[in-house]
Amino acid sequence: MSTRMFKNARIYTPTDTGAPAAGRDQGRIRVHEQGALVVDNGVITDVGDAAVVRGRTDIGRMDEIVDCRGRTVIPGFVDPHTHMCFAGLREAEFDLRMAGTPYLEILAQGGGILSSVRAVRAASEDELFETSRRHLLSALRLGTTTLEIKSGYALDTAGELKMLRVIDRLGRETDMDVVPTFLGAHAVPEDHRDRPDAFVDRLIDEMIPAVRDQGIAWFCDVFCEEGVFSIAQGRRILTAAKAAGLGIKIHADEVHDLGGAGLAAEMGAVSADHLLAAGDDNLRRMACAGVTAVLLPATAYSLRKPYARARHMIDMGLPVALATDCNPGSSYTESMPFAVGLAVINMFLTPFEALTAATLNAAYAVGAAKTAGSLDAGKQADFLFLDGDSPTILAYHAGVSPVAAVYKRGERVF
Ligand code: NIG
Ligand code: FE
Repeated sequence: MSTRMFKNARIYTPTDTGAPAAGRDQGRIRVHEQGALVVDNGVITDVGDAAVVRGRTDIGRMDEIVDCRGRTVIPGFVDPHTHMCFAGLREAEFDLRMAGTPYLEILAQGGGILSSVRAVRAASEDELFETSRRHLLSALRLGTTTLEIKSGYALDTAGELKMLRVIDRLGRETDMDVVPTFLGAHAVPEDHRDRPDAFVDRLIDEMIPAVRDQGIAWFCDVFCEEGVFSIAQGRRILTAAKAAGLGIKIHADEVHDLGGAGLAAEMGAVSADHLLAAGDDNLRRMACAGVTAVLLPATAYSLRKPYARARHMIDMGLPVALATDCNPGSSYTESMPFAVGLAVINMFLTPFEALTAATLNAAYAVGAAKTAGSLDAGKQADFLFLDGDSPTILAYHAGVSPVAAVYKRGERVF
């Protein structure tokens, strides 16, 4: 517990005005070329131009003054959509996909998500924790300081509760802040293949109440897609989740334009994610309902799909966030710098818009904006030093990590 001043920092941060940044505001970044931060017990108590901050600060009260030596400082990344709790990899399926087999066909043949379900059911809680922890520490070194993790690779009550316990433990036993999401509706398990509605009944009657009683998950998510869950099934599941007090999210219109984006608007979801195939009417409904669009460019990249229309979404006033979607199937990466690079180069976001998407808007998309997502007084001192003169370096220096240091609650953790 200490009070520290970080001086001589080139600070780039969105400003939290109480809502995700939309439209032109998404590209508004506060820049303090000669900036300083004061951190008291892990919380930012002052931030701004060094001369101003110094004038307001009793320097004698500082336990330490850290010279950032002109380094570029940005908020820690918030990764608002991952499936980072898994066991086993799927390299052979990657080969199949690269040779032309569609992602959903592999799932329909009992592979894909269902391969990971077999691996996670077979893994002990400690094994699952260890493999997930390795991925999570890799994310931390790449600058992620808050991370959402979904269950969804067990698809039975005991296994989903086991995954949520592991996800909770990851947050308690590492430096990462972890947001747990229940994704029991990730796929129809093999033993319900011919009676998917019976699985939806089980989700509603048994799994959601058990998840509520366990008290770990913040959100419930549903994968609405052809051959997975329909919009009507998604509506039933999310209605039950909402009644159980969970926030809601949707894997929406990833491959087909089923209307997941419209369902997210109708139900007041905090986010609709993927949206590669989402149509304009439903995107407009999302904008009106205040739903954040969480885009996953590394998934489009890995699936060789056209990217979500991020430029169009921002121009129509929809707040856009970025995530890795880290999972062993459609997007095996823990790297937010990679997602930012793809967003700038292939989705035409400006580097400033991408920075807001990977920090402030991402924090809103997981209900963590009170503590994370920007360098504002009152929030946790989660920030990064970048090797470069501005956040542009994230897209410009491709294929490596420009993250030179990671601070979590004011302490250097990498
Ligand atoms: O977000 N789309 C569904 N779920 C994940 C993929 C999970 C997997 O293939 O293991 C996604 O892309
Ligand atoms: Fe996903």
